Order: sequence, then C-alpha cells, then structure tokens
Amino acid sequence: MKIWQKNIDVDSLVETFTVGNDRVMDLQLAEADVLGSLAHTRMLNSIDLMSDEDLAVVQKELKNIYREIQEGNFQIEDSVEDVHSQVEMLLTQRIGEAGKKIHSGRSRNDQVLVDLKLYFRSEIQSIVQNTTHFFDQLLTLSEQYKQVLIPGYTHLQIAMPSSFGLWFGAYAESLVDDLELMKAAWKVCNKNPLGSAAGYGSSFPLNRTLTTELLGFEDLNYNVVYAQMGRGKTERILAQAMSAIAATLAKFAMDVTLYINQNFGFISFPAHLTTGSSIMPHKKNPDVFELIRSRCNKIQALPNEIALMTTNLPSGYHRDLQLLKENLFPAFKSLNECLEIATYMLANISVKENVLDDPKYDYLFSVEVVNNEVLKGVPFREAYKNIGLAIEEGTFQPSKEVSHTHEGSIGNLCNDHIKRMFEQVKADFGFEKVDTALQALVK
Ligand code: ARG
Repeated sequence: MKIWQKNIDVDSLVETFTVGNDRVMDLQLAEADVLGSLAHTRMLNSIDLMSDEDLAVVQKELKNIYREIQEGNFQIEDSVEDVHSQVEMLLTQRIGEAGKKIHSGRSRNDQVLVDLKLYFRSEIQSIVQNTTHFFDQLLTLSEQYKQVLIPGYTHLQIAMPSSFGLWFGAYAESLVDDLELMKAAWKVCNKNPLGSAAGYGSSFPLNRTLTTELLGFEDLNYNVVYAQMGRGKTERILAQAMSAIAATLAKFAMDVTLYINQNFGFISFPAHLTTGSSIMPHKKNPDVFELIRSRCNKIQALPNEIALMTTNLPSGYHRDLQLLKENLFPAFKSLNECLEIATYMLANISVKENVLDDPKYDYLFSVEVVNNEVLKGVPFREAYKNIGLAIEEGTFQPSKEVSHTHEGSIGNLCNDHIKRMFEQVKADFGFEKVDTALQALVK
C-alpha cells in the first residue's frame, strides 16, 4: 500500500521498475528524513497546524525511530515505496492519528530535497575529516624529508632538482584548493529547501525561517521553484568538489606507482602492504595505489554522469532525479576509503635518501651551474651557452649544491603557510553550528 494510493493497485511490474534500487539508496537518507520531520512538525505546531499534544507524541516517536536507525534497526519494507513513506507509516502504526498529520504543507519532493541536503552535509563533514588526516600526513612527510633530493621532471625527462619536501608538500597544498571547492559545495548544500513542497509552495502560512534555524541551515533556498531546481544541480556541484579531491589523489597515486617502479626506485613500502603475483615470485605490486587511481578516476566521471542525467530537464520535479542517488551515494564511501588507505600507506612509506648520487641525474644541476656563472657576472644567455657546450662535449661538471631560498622552493617550503591556508578554509565551513542545531533537534 502506498501513502498516495487511493483505490487502484499499481501494476507490479511498474511498481518494481519505478522503485528500482531506491529502497536501498533511501536507507542512507533515513536519519535525515527523521530530522526533517522533527523540524517540520515543530514548525506545524508553531503555526497551529499541530496541537501541543500531537506534537509531543510525534516528537517522542520520531526520536525513537531516529535511535532505531542509528542502532541499525530500521528497514524499508518491500510493501513500502521509500524512506519517507516508511517513517510516516511507522509513526502512524505506533501513535495513530497524530502520525497522519505530519505531512501537511509538504511533499515528498521537498522532503527528499531536504533529506539529501542534510545527508550531503554529513558526508561532506566525513570527507573533510579524512582529507585533513591525509593533508596532515603529507605535510609531516614533507617536513621530515625536506633535505632529501629527488629529480624533478618536465616532459617526463629529468629537469631540475626537486625534493621529497616539495613533492609531499605539493599534494598537501593541492588539497587546500580542493577544499575551497568543497566549501563552495557545502555552501550550496547548506540552504534549506523545505517548505517548497511539490515545488510550488503551499497555501499554509509555513514558517520556513524556523525550519531553517532548527536544521542549522545557513540560509534558505527562497524561491520554491528554484528550491526544486536545486536537485541535480546540488549533486553536480558536490560531485565536482569530490572530483577535485579525487584528481589530486589520482595524480598522487600515479606518481607513487612511478616512483616505486624499479627504474625510479625512490620509494618503497613494507612487503605486507604490497601484493604478490601468482606466477612471478619476485613481485611486490602497488595495487593499493592502482586502485586508488582507478576509483578516483571513476569519481572524476561523476560530474559528467550527473550533468548528462539532468541535461535538458525542465524546471519542476522529475522522477529522473531519483536515479542520481545510485551514481552519487557510493562515491562518498569510495572517496573516503581512498583517503583513509592513502593516509595509512603514507604512514608506512620509506624514501631513498641518496637518489641523486647516481650520475645519470647529473644534468639536473645544469641550471644551478648556469646560475652560479650568472652570480659571478656572466650574462645568463652566455652562461647558458657555455654550459650547453660543456654538456655536449662531455666536460660538464655538476655542482650538486642546491640553495633555493625563495618562497615555496626546496629550501623554503612554507609549509606553515600551507597549513594556515588549510586551517582557514576548514574553519569557514562552520560545522559546529550545524552539529549544535541537530543535537538540539534530537535531544
Ligand atoms: N523516490 C523519489 C525521489 O527520489 C521521492 C520523491 C517522489 N516524488 C514523486 N512525486 N513521485 O525522487
């Protein structure tokens, strides 16, 4: 029986096709759905659409259901279409009449909108937390190995001296900018669509500012048509932010697989963190980083998937939007797992201390030698030519002394500034305000 069902049974094939995998996806929205109802019913009471008595029983039972969800004792029954129907049905079964009153002034369209935004906020918090751990690990390694030089490449040809300090620190700083994008996604998620109902508002004098405060949102999606249009758009923006972190991780994973390769041999991991081959007894493969690379490349496809699934949808609700859950939801888990395992692997990395002793890297220092000539008064172009000729004649003598002092260079990594920027972006999210509001709502 559907909550919207009157007197006609829906064809079972149509029912199976339209619900599809949605019950499984909706389980992840269960907590959010109850939070939305806790706020909505308090608002209904404030505008005299729910009595104090009804509100008290509804709130008590919603909080019970919330606890059951947290304890893992919540299911969406096969006879029920989605999480919104399941919560309302449970409530009505348990408390009777009052349960039937909670849907005044809303639609499943704004219910799922608000559920998604609450769910996305909590997923963003986890991603930011895992990104912080990865960032801290990168910066620790950058400081630890700032004296250890490695080749820098352009065109994948040896170019100029680099260092482990630069390499690890570069990925840390990359995460600062990724977090800026995530903060933009957070801001988009942190606006309240509840009260837009089916997408055109309600004749009830809803107090949308009240539900905004109760749910800890920063502001509202004011225009009810725009609130509905936010579905798909919010997902796409969030996927773009996730994709930025994924791109950083995938590039890092690519570097790792290269540097661990015997022809480079810059880094290694203990045997128990690598994988073997069924035929070649010598193998210690970097499967973890290959899978990080692949998973993160897959996440980078997500914004396009969402864009195509929503392209040319006119304004207003469309059932198409339901399917976005199947693309986006698994990506949260995948990205978090990638961040976690990357951090874990880095805690066990070993670096080779004397990579540049190998004479094949001598030409890395050609610019250092040119610059030394310039410091002695030789014009740059002349010095460049002299050293170039010496290289061609085989008489080039590298001076392996590296003294880079400007901001962000080998000798002056500015990791304290990178840390400052990261902390600043992170502080701007304002997670505490959200946590405080939600705790008060379920208390
Ligand atoms: N499962 C639906 C979705 O995710 C819930 C909203 C249903 N609304 C409707 N008008 N059929 O979009």
